[in-house]
Amino acid sequence: MLKYTTHTGAIALIAFSVSLTSFAQTSGADTYKAKCQMCHAADGSGNTPAGKAMKAHPFDSPDVLKQSDTDLVAVIKNGKNKMPAFTGKLTDAQITDLVEHIHSLQKK
Ligand code: HEC
Repeated sequence: MLKYTTHTGAIALIAFSVSLTSFAQTSGADTYKAKCQMCHAADGSGNTPAGKAMKAHPFDSPDVLKQSDTDLVAVIKNGKNKMPAFTGKLTDAQITDLVEHIHSLQKK
């Protein structure tokens, strides 16, 4: 089960100010903050107003854990239900970094 922490909101605020200054060179974590966090939350729980409304699954739920990296890349590229497609908006390298970041969130 996920633990919801009260400092998630503070992290989101810090993340927002960081994302404004990090366009040039971005890691998976930076790209995640800029493009994904508004729905999936900083901790990958999907515990945001948009994530809850659209039913984004927590990244550490069994449904997501069972998916291969290839599956996750396909979802990010092509979208899935309410999840927007990011083909053309992110490079393959950025998407690979994002999958790594998702795994780091699953390990908590
Ligand atoms: C507008 C809200 C929104 C944004 C922005 C968004 N997602 Fe999603 N995402 C969703 C929703 C909703 C789902 C669940 C889709 C479903 O299965 O119905 C999802 C599913 C996923 C999944 C598959 C997990 C599953 O539920 O099977 C991955 C991986 C994922 N998103 C990664 C990302 C990444 C990486 C980004 C940023 C590049 C991102 N998402 C941006 C809403 C969003």
